[in-house]
Amino acid sequence: MTQRTFVILKPDAVRRGLVGEVLSRFEAKGLSIVAMEQRTIDGAMADQHYAEHVERDFYPPLRTFITSGPLVALVLEGDEAIDVVRAINGATDGRKAAPGTVRGDLSLSNRENLVHASDSAESAARELALWFPGL
Ligand code: PPS
Repeated sequence: MTQRTFVILKPDAVRRGLVGEVLSRFEAKGLSIVAMEQRTIDGAMADQHYAEHVERDFYPPLRTFITSGPLVALVLEGDEAIDVVRAINGATDGRKAAPGTVRGDLSLSNRENLVHASDSAESAARELALWFPGL
């Protein structure tokens, strides 16, 4: 089933010059880039994006991090794209993520873990509407 999923290349990916490296993994897999935009978000946008996490202990430093500089927001499309992209990204914590995944190969953190991707069809619909209204 063809799906669209929402992805962020987080500020650490931009700072570390890994945008091309991560994007190339998605492209090499066969996913299509439907939309892509570099932007810097404010705290209000972060709160909307991470609505389900705003009360968590880890949220304040996550909010500081995600607003700390430019990120790249994108929409990817392909067969089973939501699960496929999460598999490419690997487990949340880069220290535990499997080698061969983006986080397993390139991150040592559960906050500065390079990528965000929608975790369900419902999340994808909500995040796509928030970040790319009108798409
Ligand atoms: S949970 O507990 O399963 O709801 O969390 P998870 O979906 O794995 O991660 C939610 C996002 O929060 C970021 N983050 C952290 N998660 C857990 N613990 C700590 N300390 C933490 N710090 C930051 C994590 O990178 C996830 O970001 P996204 O953008 O959703 O990948």
